[in-house]
Amino acid sequence: MPSKSTKTTAKKTKTTKTTNKSKVSPKTTIKSASTSTVKKEVKKSVEKKDKKITYNTLRGMRDITPKNGVIWQNVYSVIRNVSNSYGFSYVETPILEQANLFIRSIGKGTDVVDKEMYLFEDKDGSKVCLRPEMTASMARSYIENGMQALPQPVKVWYHGQMFRHDRPQAGRFRQFYQSGCETIGDSGPVVDAELISVAYNTLRDLGIDTVVNINSIGTLEDRQNYIVELVGYLRSKRSYLSEESKKRINKNPLRILDSKEKEDIEVMEEAPQILDWLSPESKKFFTDVLEYLDEAEIPYVLNSKLVRGLDYYSNTVFELYADDEEFSNLALGGGGRYDGLIEQLGGQPTPAAGFSLGLDRVVMILRKRQEKLEREGQKPVEEKKNKVFFAQLGIQANKKSLYILEFLRREGITVYHNLAKSSLKAQMEMANKIGATHTLILGQKEVQDGSILVRNMDSGIQEVVDQKKIANFVKKILQA
Ligand code: HAM
Repeated sequence: MPSKSTKTTAKKTKTTKTTNKSKVSPKTTIKSASTSTVKKEVKKSVEKKDKKITYNTLRGMRDITPKNGVIWQNVYSVIRNVSNSYGFSYVETPILEQANLFIRSIGKGTDVVDKEMYLFEDKDGSKVCLRPEMTASMARSYIENGMQALPQPVKVWYHGQMFRHDRPQAGRFRQFYQSGCETIGDSGPVVDAELISVAYNTLRDLGIDTVVNINSIGTLEDRQNYIVELVGYLRSKRSYLSEESKKRINKNPLRILDSKEKEDIEVMEEAPQILDWLSPESKKFFTDVLEYLDEAEIPYVLNSKLVRGLDYYSNTVFELYADDEEFSNLALGGGGRYDGLIEQLGGQPTPAAGFSLGLDRVVMILRKRQEKLEREGQKPVEEKKNKVFFAQLGIQANKKSLYILEFLRREGITVYHNLAKSSLKAQMEMANKIGATHTLILGQKEVQDGSILVRNMDSGIQEVVDQKKIANFVKKILQA
C-alpha cells in the first residue's frame, strides 16, 4: 500500500504535468524552432533508425572467403590424397571437450594450458574448453571407442579448427586450422620416419619445400636426469635470463631452451645438451629414425634446442620450416612421439606418434606466391585451364537448365552458370568476367531440336552440338 505522502506526491506531479501541457502546446514548440533546425532533427532521427548494426569476427578469427576458397580446397585435396595413400583413415572429434583432458595431457606450466585455453563453464557447471589441438582428443577417442581391439597400429588423419587465445600476429590466430596424422599402437622408429615423410611430402606436393628440425628429448627418466643438470646451470646464469625465463626455471625449464629472447639465446648456447643425457636405448632409437630419414632422402637438421611446447612428448620431436627466407621462422607443422599419453589418460600402455600441419600458414604462403604471380602478369595454374559457362535464354530453356546441369555433373563436368539471370547479355558478361573459354547456349530453338550452341569466347565461332553428345564435347574442351 502506498503511504499517504506518496499518494500526494503522485497527485502533485499529475497537476504539474497538466499545467505544463496547457502552457506549452506542441504547436508552440515547433513554431519556436526554425524550420531548418526541425528538418535537421527529423533527418538525424531517421538516419539513426536507418543506421544498421553490423557484426565483425572476433579478434584472431577469420572467414575463409571465395578469394582463398580454391587454395583451401586444393590444400584439403592434397592432404586427403597423401594421407589416404599412406593408409591413414579419416576421423573427426568434437570441438568442445572436457577441459581436464587437455590440462592433463598438455600439462600445467605450458603456455597452451596456462594462458591460451578457451575455457568456460557449461550450463551444468562442468569445465569445458574449445580444443587447442587434436592429439589429446584422439588419445581420448582411441580409449573411449575401444580402438585397442583393432589391428595395431591404428593410423588416423584429421583436419579442423583449433582454438588458442594467443596474441594474434602474422601466421598466428585464435581460431586456426590443423590437419594431422596419428599412428597409435606401434613403437618402431620407422613410424616416426613415416610420419615425418607424410608431413614433408604433403607440403612438397603443395609446392612448399621444407627443412625438418629434429631432436630427441628421451624418455621421462632421461629427461628428469637432464632437468636436474639444466636447472643447476640456469640458476647459475639466472641474472642474465629474460624475466619470463626466470619464472620458468622452476615451472618449465625445458621451454627456456627454445626461447626467442636474445638474452636467453646467449645463455642457452653454453647450456648442457639433452642428447648427452639420453640412455643408450633412446640414443639408438633416435639414430634409427635418422637412418630412415636418410634412406628416404628427407632433409633434416639436428636442433638440440627443440623441445616443443606440449608436455606429452617423449623421444622424437620435430618441426617443419619452409625452405624460403621470407617464411623461414614460422613452423608449418610439428609433432613427435607420445608413448605415455594413452596410459596417462586411463588407457593401456600404448606407444604413439603423430604430427599436425598449420593450414593457415600453408595457405598464407600459397596465397602470397599466387599474388606475386598475378603482379608479374602470370595467371595462376587453375586460371590457365579451359572454363565452360552455361547460359540459357527464354522460359523453356530456363526450365530445362537444371536437367542439363545435373546431366553434366553426373558426367563429372562442372560448368559455371547463373540461372537467375534471364538476359543473354548479362550472362555473357559474367562468362567473360570469370574467364570462360567457352559458353554453352540453350535457347528456345535448341530446347525444341535437342541441341546446344557452343561458343568459343576467343574466336566467336559457334557450333551446334547434339545434346546427347554434349558431355563428350565439353570433356574434350576441358581436357585441351
Ligand atoms: P603444435 O606445434 O602446437 O602441435 O601445432 C602444430 C602446428 O599448428 C604449428 O606448427 C603451427 O603451424 C600451427 N599452429 C599452432 N598454433 C597456431 C596458431 N595460433 N595460429 C596458426 N597456426 C598455429 C600440436 O598441436 C600437436 N598436437 C601436434 C602433434 C600431433 N603432435 C603429435 N601429434
